[in-house]
Amino acid sequence: MRTEVELFDVFHETLDKLAGDGILLVAGDPPNPMTIGWGTIGHIWNKPMITVMVRPVRHTFSLMESVKDFSVCVLPDQYRKQLSICGTKSGRDMNKMEHCHLTVEKCIKADASFIAESTIHLECRIVHKHFLDPVTLDAAIIKRHYPMNDYHMIYYGEILGIYRNG
Ligand SMILES: Cc1cc2nc3c(=O)[nH]c(=O)nc-3n(C[C@H](O)[C@H](O)[C@H](O)COP(=O)(O)O)c2cc1C
Repeated sequence: MRTEVELFDVFHETLDKLAGDGILLVAGDPPNPMTIGWGTIGHIWNKPMITVMVRPVRHTFSLMESVKDFSVCVLPDQYRKQLSICGTKSGRDMNKMEHCHLTVEKCIKADASFIAESTIHLECRIVHKHFLDPVTLDAAIIKRHYPMNDYHMIYYGEILGIYRNG
């Protein structure tokens, strides 16, 4: 049973997982889960907002370019292996949902899917996107994270709904 909650109720746990083993960005139909470790959660244009960063080489990039909505799912601690698979294997080569025995459910407010096993999920709508601009990016960050010039696309997702399991 999913309960709709406020951003502050999930903020700490979501950021903690993002900076830890990661959380799942789920996009497309059939939905593909990709582990993400970088992003921000905040308040922009008077809306609760999440930004996620996707390199153009990812299968998820082509999916995000073809949808309006996506979800972000926080998995329980015992799903480290699944997070590792979703962060190293591509949905181009396999159905990661099936491979990881994850259950797909339709979102409540967004035209997307989420993972039933998640403890928290955020339903999001893309309202803005842009590539990172190397002209204005710190040189040390470019050197460390972008030796191949594969700058992330940053997607701004308006958070339409925030849900907790239980
Ligand atoms: C902990 C962790 C965090 C990651 N964070 C990101 C991220 O924020 N953005 C990104 O583009 N890739 C990130 N990756 C890499 C993708 O998850 C990985 O390349 C994945 O296999 C891409 O899947 P796809 O081809 O199905 O989209 C991360 C991987 C791990 C293990």
